Amino acid sequence: MRKNIVAGNWKMNKNLQEGLELATELNEALKGKTVNCDVIIGTPFIHLASVAKAVDLNKIGVAAQNCADKESGAYTGEVSAAMVASTGAQYVILGHSERRAYYGETAETLKEKVKLALANGLTPIFCIGEVLEEREAEKHFDVVKSQVEASLFDLSADDFSKVVLAYEPVWAIGTGKTASPAQAQEMHAFIRATLAEKYGQDIANNTSILYGGSANAGNAKELFSNPDVDGGLIGGASLGVDKFMPIIEAF
Ligand code: 13P
Repeated sequence: MRKNIVAGNWKMNKNLQEGLELATELNEALKGKTVNCDVIIGTPFIHLASVAKAVDLNKIGVAAQNCADKESGAYTGEVSAAMVASTGAQYVILGHSERRAYYGETAETLKEKVKLALANGLTPIFCIGEVLEEREAEKHFDVVKSQVEASLFDLSADDFSKVVLAYEPVWAIGTGKTASPAQAQEMHAFIRATLAEKYGQDIANNTSILYGGSANAGNAKELFSNPDVDGGLIGGASLGVDKFMPIIEAF
């Protein structure tokens, strides 16, 4: 079922105490409130187990920001999908442009990560998006299509239907430069059409496609009012309840 989702991506911010404080504060803010979207927070690995214990998991989903492309074994420093799941986290953000750009993640490794996430019962929040040069060269549709095809189109329809997508134009991330609602809608509709070609209209209609890139309390409502924008993946504005709650309440 297609859901509205507002997901925070804390990136490499907040030590454990600060993260617990933020999660607890958000939990309090949501207590007794009915909101029109699922709320997720993507924390650093070391926070996951404590945050999952501190929040009402029926109201706040917990996500890792990455997982390993191997099941287990001699991979020093890596964290497996099974380990993430064992903390109580239900989601994992995969393929974020920062991981692709700074840590050399490729379509092939991401394919493995997605499979392992699904095999361990995690919902992947799979990120795609073009860089500025690609948009300027009008290659953004091709780039996004090939990112989806290369890492996800090996999945069975049943597995694919468990994936959440996040369109994050790289030029909009952390830059204060948001895609216009029209640019977001245009790309989201294109992505949904691409999914429909491969998996059929039903699965395409039921896939949540989030927008990410300088989304905030001021622009969330307009972005989310587009028919193919099912929510947001929020970086900077997820780091304080005062900034994050208004985005949740934009639905
Ligand atoms: P900002 O909201 O800080 O631009 O980050 C977006 C993002 O990368 C979320 O994953």
